[in-house]
Amino acid sequence: MEININVETCIQCFLCTAVCPFKIFEKNESEQASINNDRMAFCVKCGHCMAICKSKSITIKGLSYDDNFHDLQETNIDLDSFINFLANRRSIRNFKDKEIPKEILNNIIDATSYAPYGGSPRNLMITVVQNKEILDKTLTLMSNFYDNLVKWLKNPIARYMIKRNVTQETFNTLTHHILPAAEKGYYNTKSGNDNIMRNASAVLIIHANIGAEEHTHDAIICITYAMLAAHSFGLGATIIGLIPPAINKVKKLKELFQIPEENEAVMSLILGYPKYKYKRTIKRGKREINWI
Ligand SMILES: Cc1cc2nc3c(=O)[nH]c(=O)nc-3n(C[C@H](O)[C@H](O)[C@H](O)COP(=O)(O)O)c2cc1C
Repeated sequence: MEININVETCIQCFLCTAVCPFKIFEKNESEQASINNDRMAFCVKCGHCMAICKSKSITIKGLSYDDNFHDLQETNIDLDSFINFLANRRSIRNFKDKEIPKEILNNIIDATSYAPYGGSPRNLMITVVQNKEILDKTLTLMSNFYDNLVKWLKNPIARYMIKRNVTQETFNTLTHHILPAAEKGYYNTKSGNDNIMRNASAVLIIHANIGAEEHTHDAIICITYAMLAAHSFGLGATIIGLIPPAINKVKKLKELFQIPEENEAVMSLILGYPKYKYKRTIKRGKREINWI
């Protein structure tokens, strides 16, 4: 059985029946909390049932109260502190030449385990790169990739093939966003600049099996959590959309980053200690809201 209720300890509060998103728990004819076997297959191991059970009477295969759960503090962050935390975060692209301790990187990755997911948290893999030699090698390959992309997008046949093979969203990003900078040599390392990884101290790459359910959305949420966790450590971070397409198209890059053949890179984050401190933040225009 994947899910079990210990009938000896269950206090019949029925909170599990209320919180399970898939209604796997039910009140049976004997007025006891029980499992609806027909629904068991829906379990995504979100852990809501185990997290709410006062008597720790529910067990799910693969999850343990000791290893996968911890008690919550009563107090939550207040709105002012939360907004202040968000407002203080900027995308940081200038870093000190200072290594990030592995323990901090591990804490950042641990924080991503609280992210919601649409597929399974086990679908996502994270590669952490701190090795400067590898970063230098990969930067050159990425720079070449973006040089080639300019050539392809300027060639009518190659451009047509790209357009046919990517979504409109990706095509527009390529032509409106990346091409104008790439054709001016912005991503080219020959200028001596690194405008892709920005000489960051560490690069995080989130990748997943190409067919894994919801892995694209999950990876973007995961990287966002990592970015916010980095900010809480006083680190600077920027989500970098330029890295994954290069990894997925250039075999040598995939090899250098040790991404399994069957996986695709989805999103990346550069990290480091910020060189500069901002004095103020930007007030962006209000979002357009449609109240119904
Ligand atoms: C999906 C995504 C992809 C991004 N890709 C890049 C990138 O390749 N290079 C870069 O310098 N910034 C990248 N950014 C960072 C944005 O440029 C940045 O969030 C934006 O300029 C707003 O600045 P702020 O984060 O400081 O508020 C990306 C952000 C997101 C969400």
